[in-house]
Amino acid sequence: MTVRHFLSLMDLSPDELRCLIRRAIEIKQGLKVGEVRQPLVNRTLAMIFDKSSTRTRLSFEVAMTQFGGNAVFLSPGSTQLGRGEPVEDTARVMSRMVDGVVIRTSSHAMVETFARYAEVPVINGLTDAFHPCQLLADVQTYHEMRGDIQGCRVAWIGDGNNMCHSWINAARQFRFSLTISTPAEFRPREDLLTAAREFIVLNDDPAIAAEDSDVVVTDTWASMGQEQDKARRLEAFEAFRVDRRIMEKAKPDAVFMHCLPAYRGHEVTAEVIDGPQSLVWEQAENRLHAQKALLEFLLAGSGAITANKE
Ligand code: CP
Ligand code: NVA
Repeated sequence: MTVRHFLSLMDLSPDELRCLIRRAIEIKQGLKVGEVRQPLVNRTLAMIFDKSSTRTRLSFEVAMTQFGGNAVFLSPGSTQLGRGEPVEDTARVMSRMVDGVVIRTSSHAMVETFARYAEVPVINGLTDAFHPCQLLADVQTYHEMRGDIQGCRVAWIGDGNNMCHSWINAARQFRFSLTISTPAEFRPREDLLTAAREFIVLNDDPAIAAEDSDVVVTDTWASMGQEQDKARRLEAFEAFRVDRRIMEKAKPDAVFMHCLPAYRGHEVTAEVIDGPQSLVWEQAENRLHAQKALLEFLLAGSGAITANKE
């Protein structure tokens, strides 16, 4: 039986992703009316976090608890990984004990190596390249608040970072148009842009990029690991702040999205993120529901049934 991983949105088919979004909404509705659903009794999820986290860690831990299973949190510094034990060996050992592994670390290649040697599903909890779990929650949120994202216009304004990369993959998989506005030096990866070219427009003027959009989305200007470069980045991104002027270019019922943590006054004004168009709290909540759908798919068997990895 093929083990399925979730290292990027491209690991699932568009149909599977759509099923997950539908399932996340069902799971959320069930939870709200007090339904107890425990498909992962006696299952354990290991979580290797080499970077800070509030939402990702908490949502996976709560998801496992609500599903009747357990989550074990590991920081590389306190494991043998931090002392140089090979990733390949760690992956094989952990596969003998747990039912799935979430990894948050800088190197996407490390997560790929881990997945290659793991005999259980591996989930990317954020790397410097991608943050696919966040996109499940974001697409779910748009679906709940405005309907299907297919055919919509999304404007990404700011850094061409891991979140931008995952929005590019989402544009391909969910078939919406994504206009990306970044300073020239901070464009997203060329290979991802090329693969998604049918859905992507680049425009270095954020006000033009936001025109007529259904969603305006941004993220921090200095991601984890870029702290030393923060002063230079704040200067470079000054013209890419999402403020009222930008939101007024979008459609009147457009929504504002941000994966959080946010830095008010930098990538977004307080007026926008705390205003009526902002969906950031819904996005954060949906991390729990979307990841429950993902865990059910990967760990509780339904992923194995539909396994057709190319
Ligand atoms: N959005 C997100 O992944 O938040 P954390 O860094 O708090 O997990
Ligand atoms: N781009 C940000 C996302 C945080 C959830 C980072 O990598 O720090």
